[in-house]
Amino acid sequence: MCGIFAYVTHGVERTRQDIVRTLLNGLRRLEYRGYDSAGIAIDDALTDPSGNRSALVIKSPGTVAILEAQVWQTLTNEPDFSVSTHVGLAHTRWATHGAPSVVNSHPHSSGPGHEFLVVHNGIITNYAALREVLLKKGFPFESDTDTEVVAKLLAHLYNELCGSETPSEALSFPRLVMLLMHELEGAYALIIRSQHFPGEVVACKRGSPLVMGMATAAQAADMSSPQGSPHHEYLSGDGGGSSRSLDSLPTQIPSSGMKGGLLRRTPRRDPSIYQVAQVGLETELPRGFSFHPASPRTNGRPARESEQRCELFFASDASAIVEHTRQVVVLEDSDVVHVDSDGEVDVFSFMDEGVQRAVTQTRALITLDFELEQIMRGNFDHFMLKEIFEQPDSLVSTMRGRFQASTRTVHLGGLRERLADILRSSRLIFVGCGTSYNAALACRHLMEQLTELPVAVELASDFLDRRCPIFRSDVCFFLSQSGETADTLDALRYAKQRNALTVGVVNVVGSAIARLTDCGVHLNAGCEIGVASTKVYTSQIVAMVMIGLLLSADRLSKAARRAEIMDGLARLPEQVRRVLQMDDVLRDIACTQLCRATSILLFGRGFHYATCLEAALKIKEVSYVHTEGIHAGELKHGPLALVDEEMPIVLFAMRDDCYDKVKNALQQVLARGGSHRMIVVCCEGDEDEFRRAGVSTVLAVPPAVDCLQVVLGIIPMQLIAYHMAVARGLNVDQPRNLAKSVTVQ
Ligand code: F6R
Repeated sequence: MCGIFAYVTHGVERTRQDIVRTLLNGLRRLEYRGYDSAGIAIDDALTDPSGNRSALVIKSPGTVAILEAQVWQTLTNEPDFSVSTHVGLAHTRWATHGAPSVVNSHPHSSGPGHEFLVVHNGIITNYAALREVLLKKGFPFESDTDTEVVAKLLAHLYNELCGSETPSEALSFPRLVMLLMHELEGAYALIIRSQHFPGEVVACKRGSPLVMGMATAAQAADMSSPQGSPHHEYLSGDGGGSSRSLDSLPTQIPSSGMKGGLLRRTPRRDPSIYQVAQVGLETELPRGFSFHPASPRTNGRPARESEQRCELFFASDASAIVEHTRQVVVLEDSDVVHVDSDGEVDVFSFMDEGVQRAVTQTRALITLDFELEQIMRGNFDHFMLKEIFEQPDSLVSTMRGRFQASTRTVHLGGLRERLADILRSSRLIFVGCGTSYNAALACRHLMEQLTELPVAVELASDFLDRRCPIFRSDVCFFLSQSGETADTLDALRYAKQRNALTVGVVNVVGSAIARLTDCGVHLNAGCEIGVASTKVYTSQIVAMVMIGLLLSADRLSKAARRAEIMDGLARLPEQVRRVLQMDDVLRDIACTQLCRATSILLFGRGFHYATCLEAALKIKEVSYVHTEGIHAGELKHGPLALVDEEMPIVLFAMRDDCYDKVKNALQQVLARGGSHRMIVVCCEGDEDEFRRAGVSTVLAVPPAVDCLQVVLGIIPMQLIAYHMAVARGLNVDQPRNLAKSVTVQ
């Protein structure tokens, strides 16, 4: 849902072309978040009347590659130049308000002269009312977006409050942005530059993700040093929303009770901790911590040369930052970051209550532990294919340190402290959207078996629409790859308000859901860039299976069942590797049997109802072929009317409790002439039975314990979906109208 990026340099000599390359590269990393249009704002070659460089804005509809061509075409006629202080903004858009076009692209401007330039991820819900007011004040609007009101409102507030006075005497940049936040409703992460505050930048967030990366020359040089294992465990937290719940963070120190809105680095205690004071609207903003050690706020210590230079990066997620620095701060809701003209960084937590309070919190500087290769495509043509093929490794990574085959034990550190509470609960509720919902559905049956608790599976949006009754004896699990999905996040807030225990099953460390839940499990599947989720689906299933095993650890009656599942888990990565070897056959099926279809039906039941839904989602989202996943038990209640000799049908018939019933469904389909376009996914050893029955295409995967067959059953369909999309000439990693992280409702 839009990617925002900023590159801020202080004391670092850079050519403008270098800056542009950094911005475009940042956008390429974030492009999976939206690819309807893109834009950048940089310094112009020209200066304004006060001698400051004007801003140059270049935007275009379409992908970052299209913007890139336009940028170089624009800059080709201008001589390059060097700057030592620069604020560059960049944006890649997933359209919500207004069609993809130049005027609707970001950065949005307050007007001619670009007094204020803004990039935004999120939705300003009261934009229409604000627009009305601003129109009456004489601000013309050129776009249909909600974001344009932000830029215009900043100009309006500035004009009202500053008049002819110089800004430093009248109004600081962060103060102005807090006044802006006071007016805005909705969700946003904003990065703002202004001609009135040259060399400064303010970034703020409420409800949309934002990460700040910090690099001195010394840190940048350190980038090649070996990193620790990329393994994350939730630490049981207080659910209070601070960055406390991730074990990648250093130990927190207690607040010092400093007065005023002050963020200060505390090098004598722990240089990686920043203290943030909450400030209300009426509070005088005190000066803050000095990130830039060469500044007067270094207690007189002469700065080392490498420290005098700093580069800062703001991004919707860390994948755009990791190649520059691994030192990042994951910003919290209401944080306002100000980088002043000396490169000093203040972080304020804006309360918007109109009263002065000073409650210090902490923000930790965390060290990212993923490698650049994780966000590169390598030798694969698309991220989706790379991620499908990563599954043997991503599954091992999800299980590493948590499941020991030799002792048949499961240990999930992130649930340890709340395990007793979960076991005391009266109901488990699994909440997610899209693929994450399907993963929850795939695990319901097993979770019911192992815990003997009622398990509800909810689409986050429907859960909220119904205001589903929730009790404090419920435990709500929130499944999410990104940890930022707006519907899931809102469902989580709803469950917390009703005092249910909340558990995150999340891939992205430091994401909003990871931080807000009381406890949880990180998937550790590695970065997933392809818009269609693949490896995270299988990791979600394995994580949920491990949770089920943990919750039933003390049940003697489940010992045999638990043992067979654990033996199955140990074999799973190797079995996945074998399924991936079917790629050539699957490509052939995709290209010859399916890619020209206008509609495909998928039938299954039991564990494989979820496989049908997930396979249908994969095919439709990347190949745009209408595909429907149907419970095989429902066949005779309506869908059978769709079956004829032309309709391609996929049936999941794997060895489990429903096997015989699925074979009945097969007979019903075959009796209606649906055999020559029929594909059956079955277990190795059963192929002949289906061929004898007249099925034209049989795909056999290694036999596994029933609840893990969902992993082996989906992988052929992921590959078929991928090859169908490629055969249809579609952009697999950027399906039309979609984006990876859905941070709007
Ligand atoms: C489909 C897909 C989406 C996501 C859904 C939830 O391939 O990726 O359906 O699963 O938008 O996203 P997360 O898991 O990030 O909450």
